[in-house]
Amino acid sequence: MVANDVYYVGANDSERRIFDQLIPLPDGTTYNSYIIKGSQKTALIDTVDPTKKQVLIDNLKKLNITKIDFIVAHHGEQDHSGCISDVLNYYPMAKVVTNQKCKTELMDLLLIKDEKFFVIEDGQEISLGNKTLKFLFTPWVHWPETFVTLDIEDKVLFTCDFLGSHFSFNSQEGLFTNDKDVIYEPAKRYYAEIMSPFRNNIRKNIDIVESLNFDIIAPSHGPLYNGKDFIKFIINCYKEWSSEEVKNKVLITYVSMHGSTEKIIEYFTQSLLKKGVIVKSFDLSVADVGEIAMELLDSATAVIGTPTVLTGPHPSAVFAAYLIRALRPKTKFLTVIGSYGWGGKIIDFLTNMFSNLKAEILDPVLVKGYPKDKDFDLLDELADKIARKHKALN
Ligand code: FEO
Repeated sequence: MVANDVYYVGANDSERRIFDQLIPLPDGTTYNSYIIKGSQKTALIDTVDPTKKQVLIDNLKKLNITKIDFIVAHHGEQDHSGCISDVLNYYPMAKVVTNQKCKTELMDLLLIKDEKFFVIEDGQEISLGNKTLKFLFTPWVHWPETFVTLDIEDKVLFTCDFLGSHFSFNSQEGLFTNDKDVIYEPAKRYYAEIMSPFRNNIRKNIDIVESLNFDIIAPSHGPLYNGKDFIKFIINCYKEWSSEEVKNKVLITYVSMHGSTEKIIEYFTQSLLKKGVIVKSFDLSVADVGEIAMELLDSATAVIGTPTVLTGPHPSAVFAAYLIRALRPKTKFLTVIGSYGWGGKIIDFLTNMFSNLKAEILDPVLVKGYPKDKDFDLLDELADKIARKHKALN
């Protein structure tokens, strides 16, 4: 039980290891769904991923839920909305409560019919009898339609993806996080992977959340947060991650085919370290996208190291550049370090991919063959420039 007549009906997915065929899930995930039983009406808060439909239906049966009046759909993505049609089959009188943007998405994605919706406005309330649900729009928690719901009487804030984490837990053993050290990285990873490009909106949404009166945060992935201390913890984490502050840190993502680029990156890393710069380096042939995204949150500089393949950058380096482009980090400086055997155009290809970013592109270093003394000098010069640029930021 989450609160008085507020129940968890979600599903654990501890075995899942990838999301969107892109994001690694080292700790699995959950799809949280909740039932709120008011004295007159009953509301379901989001559903679960379609792969866990039966778990949701069984949980509703176990609670003897014979009537659902409202299905609150905070977000169109199918890991939360994907069972709405199934719930409507079981509870045909239910209305899908959502905003106009989400309604349009759900009609397109799930073919839910127009007459099934009850469209709400920002700040609107609906009564369940002895409980009141208030809806606050918090757009761009990675999609434009996202909003949160406050159960005013029970002081529970349902936030869907916002403030969540990909972290599986057994609801029978407890719903609430009880260890900040354990949840910190899953929450950060989750923020970095999907919310970090929208940090301006995230900051505004945090202001909205802070203006509300609640004791419990009930997200749609990962454990719930209960009590002032844990709520302050996750809100402060979001404030830090969404701030414009960067650290004296360089993120290096690189790939090497025959060892030249690896040697170059090793030397460059040592040169930066000697100048007091923190370095986080990832070999793209084995790297975890989530770890790169987390380091990108506060690295002042990002560097891509690549050999030349068929006149262009290695495809793994293109992936890294695309990831940086898509995540739109607050990184202030970007550059490329490359190697080639007989020719190619890796520098222009990669730097053009950063055209949507405000970061300054520092002069790249391009090495022919295995690195030689003059190349090491250029790498030292680049490391020196980065260290000076970082100092100037503070
Ligand atoms: Fe958990 Fe954006 O869906």
